Amino acid sequence: MQQLSVAVIGAGMAGRTHANAWRQAATIYHAPFPHVRLATIADAYKPFAQSAAKDYGFEHATDNWRDIVEDPSIDIVSIVVANKLHRQMAQALIEAGKHVLCEKPLTDTLEDAKAMAQLEAEADVVTGLGYTYRRNPGISQIARMVKNGDFGTINHFDARYWCDYGADPKTPIAWRYTGPMGSGALGDVGSHLIDTAEYVMGPIRSVSGARLTTVINERPQMDGVVAGGRGVSVDGPAKMSAVTNDDVATFTAEFETGVSGTFSCSRVAFGYPNALMFNVIGTQATAGFDMARAGEITVDDQSGPEHLRGQRRVLVNPEFPYFKDGSSMAFAGVGFTQIDQFTIQAHAFIQQVLGIDDGLPKLPSFAHGYRSMRIQQAIARSAADGGASVEII
Ligand SMILES: NC(=O)c1ccc[n+]([C@@H]2O[C@H](COP(=O)([O-])OP(=O)(O)OC[C@H]3O[C@@H](n4cnc5c(N)ncnc54)[C@H](O)[C@@H]3O)[C@@H](O)[C@H]2O)c1
Repeated sequence: MQQLSVAVIGAGMAGRTHANAWRQAATIYHAPFPHVRLATIADAYKPFAQSAAKDYGFEHATDNWRDIVEDPSIDIVSIVVANKLHRQMAQALIEAGKHVLCEKPLTDTLEDAKAMAQLEAEADVVTGLGYTYRRNPGISQIARMVKNGDFGTINHFDARYWCDYGADPKTPIAWRYTGPMGSGALGDVGSHLIDTAEYVMGPIRSVSGARLTTVINERPQMDGVVAGGRGVSVDGPAKMSAVTNDDVATFTAEFETGVSGTFSCSRVAFGYPNALMFNVIGTQATAGFDMARAGEITVDDQSGPEHLRGQRRVLVNPEFPYFKDGSSMAFAGVGFTQIDQFTIQAHAFIQQVLGIDDGLPKLPSFAHGYRSMRIQQAIARSAADGGASVEII
């Protein structure tokens, strides 16, 4: 194969990051890739498509995503739009023979998620889901420590994903603020947290004690197009629209290992722009991760003399998963960003399409996304049922 052509649908916040990732994908891990042709970016609002295409070097911009479906030269497509649009786009693209990298959560309803998993099972193309935190070296290092048994007996896992993109009541209504309870903070950032928790700790058996709350019950409508989710504010009089889903989601979980997990997710956490954080606490060690300091993890264990014990920071270094050759400057102190996660993900997806296996894990599947949605649904059911315990089926 001489060339692989890629396209992106959606040029909002994450769409631009996908565009950047495809541009960088061949620059890491020295894989023998063909030329990655940056073909087309589609956005319903054409100026977004045009601006992203220009900034990231794509050949074409369009306001009609079906142009991508109908272009026989395109091999791989990222779907990076509101969740309720994922199914129809994935279906059309898969039927047209394109490999599809779909953003998380898989979609907005369990019914659509099941249908997408079915579509994947019958498809003759590669499909994957954008749980990018699985590519994070710090998170992966802690997952490796869990697997190695470095914590002794793990007695607690605590995780938070706090964001502030909805903290300002003047932030306008947009797709993220409508849908059933559970599709707000839980579906948007909680889906990442649940996936990260299972990646580190293994499968969740049941959830309980859930509570979903809406703190800002209505938001102003804004004329024109809203994308990006943050930093936009409506000043002055405006028509208001109801917020129908959760701003804050809290719950507990039991992993299949029997370990207890405590979780909180928020999109109204003033002062926490993008804080995915967790701690694993065992009888012989503890470790912590904070996305705001993604170039390090914190660890305390039984190494070293007693008088020098305490939590220390360990910088991400080439001994951590994915870092060596995943960065153009792979040494401790250089740091790692969320943007890098998308680049590694794009690289891994191209490897899957080409059938190359050099140890980089495959992307989570649509089937996995369907399971993820079942966990979210179980949390919503627990909340609706006064915190009852709900098994994951
Ligand atoms: N993996 C991650 O870390 C991550 C981060 C952010 C968002 N996401 C996911 O990415 C998706 C998009 O989120 P976002 O924050 O970029 O949203 P956004 O609102 O910033 O952007 C969505 C874009 O889609 C465009 N659009 C709407 N309808 C369209 C259509 N019919 N055809 C083409 N374009 C259309 C909008 O004009 C907008 O530019 C969501 O599924 C979200 O959950 C994932």
